[in-house]
Amino acid sequence: MDDVSQPSYWSAIYQANDAGWDKGCCAPPIARLLREGFLPKGAELAVVGCGRGHEAFEAARLGFKVTAIDFAPEAVAAVKAGAESQRLGLTAVEADVFNMASRWPQGFDAIVEHTCLCAIDPSRRTEYMRAVAGALKPNGLLLGLFYAHNRPDGPPYRIDMDEAKTIFYPKFDFTRLCIAADSFENRAGFELEFIARRRA
Ligand SMILES: C[S@@+](CC[C@H](N)C(=O)[O-])C[C@H]1O[C@@H](n2cnc3c(N)ncnc32)[C@H](O)[C@@H]1O
Repeated sequence: MDDVSQPSYWSAIYQANDAGWDKGCCAPPIARLLREGFLPKGAELAVVGCGRGHEAFEAARLGFKVTAIDFAPEAVAAVKAGAESQRLGLTAVEADVFNMASRWPQGFDAIVEHTCLCAIDPSRRTEYMRAVAGALKPNGLLLGLFYAHNRPDGPPYRIDMDEAKTIFYPKFDFTRLCIAADSFENRAGFELEFIARRRA
């Protein structure tokens, strides 16, 4: 079986230009979340598993200080090229999200995630929760979209509200966890919009 924990799995998809999840723009619920005003102006955000960077671009356009993180070199190259062509100031880094805490020990104010957890082997979800908690400042926010599709296979591997609460409960409090109302049509009803605060 292909190993989704290896960058080569994702690199092969980008090289084949087969990133079927990529809509070419920021997911509408994330564009809305970034504008809601709960993040202070100029906050330092990491966008994890950023792919070609559409959410990172949107956050940079809004004036946040953005670090876009992905372990597939093709994704990071696409983010750098997109940022340059759009004249957006952001940092794109090739890194494994499981190593964020040691790479960014100062921590981020917030982490934006769009189908990163759902791209990761489900057996690593608790490890993932710890990795994102470790890369956030105390009271930092994790926000974005989880994919609660109804298929048994993956990636993306589905997660539902109950599992999300159980996985993140040890270090986070959800202040929002609901079905997004403004998903792309083919994902309507299957995207969980969330905001979770890392306990101090
Ligand atoms: C399904 S894609 C989603 C990309 C982007 N968030 C989007 O919605 O367009 C998952 C992305 O996560 C990246 N990824 C998966 N596991 C990762 C890990 N452990 N560290 C960093 N990036 C990872 C993959 O390389 C891929 O670009």
